[in-house]
Amino acid sequence: MKTVLTVLVVLAIVALGGIAFMYSGAYDVSASVPDKGLIHWVLVTTQRHSVHRGVESLKGKVQVPNLEDPKRIQTGLVHYHEMCTTCHGAPGVNISEIGQGLNPDPPELSDVGRDEPEETFWVVKNGIKMTGMPSFGVTHTDDEIWDIVAFVRKMGKLTPQQYQAMVHQAGLGAPGQENEGQEHGEGQPARPPQPEQHPLAPGAPPSH
Ligand code: HEC
Repeated sequence: MKTVLTVLVVLAIVALGGIAFMYSGAYDVSASVPDKGLIHWVLVTTQRHSVHRGVESLKGKVQVPNLEDPKRIQTGLVHYHEMCTTCHGAPGVNISEIGQGLNPDPPELSDVGRDEPEETFWVVKNGIKMTGMPSFGVTHTDDEIWDIVAFVRKMGKLTPQQYQAMVHQAGLGAPGQENEGQEHGEGQPARPPQPEQHPLAPGAPPSH
């Protein structure tokens, strides 16, 4: 009975300590300051095990398609060039200012080919909370995500010239520019035509 009481008291002190820490503002949320020590360990360990569990839960449920299919790789490039280079860069494409300001740093993905394809699929589909890595499953089908996985696994082997040649072949511009050719997310234009110009838009005729 006495031991139970001691355990309960200790737990209550730990819980109160945690709450006091939260309310004190001592944890620095600024993205310019990397997490260190215990907090870094807690976050990284939690994430690693969560991703591992997610990947295990996929096995036997999803079928890895043919990731060597050139059509799949080319479609994946279109998605990658438009949605991922900002943060992850590409051969000959630097990580943008947005990506450089993130914490944790978005990794260069050239080594991802060594991971299991299910892991890349899981991360791209689900994203990683509190890191800036978005969930692309919200806006993309599993098949489209496999296209991206197929491309990412090839990317590490591409030279900047080969990457540019693929980008050119797909009719894409520099990341973030309007495309002349192939539209990402087939079917609907990325930006629907604006029916009316906003009265405050630059260049709008003055209203009377
Ligand atoms: C807004 C920034 C951002 C965008 C856009 C983004 N990512 Fe990420 N991504 C991150 C960050 C940050 C991490 C690192 C998370 C961490 O360290 O825990 C990450 C992690 C990853 C990982 C895990 C890497 C590893 O070493 O295990 C993969 C794979 C990945 N991203 C693929 C992609 C793909 C593919 C796209 C485009 C479809 C994409 N990301 C778009 C920010 C981004």
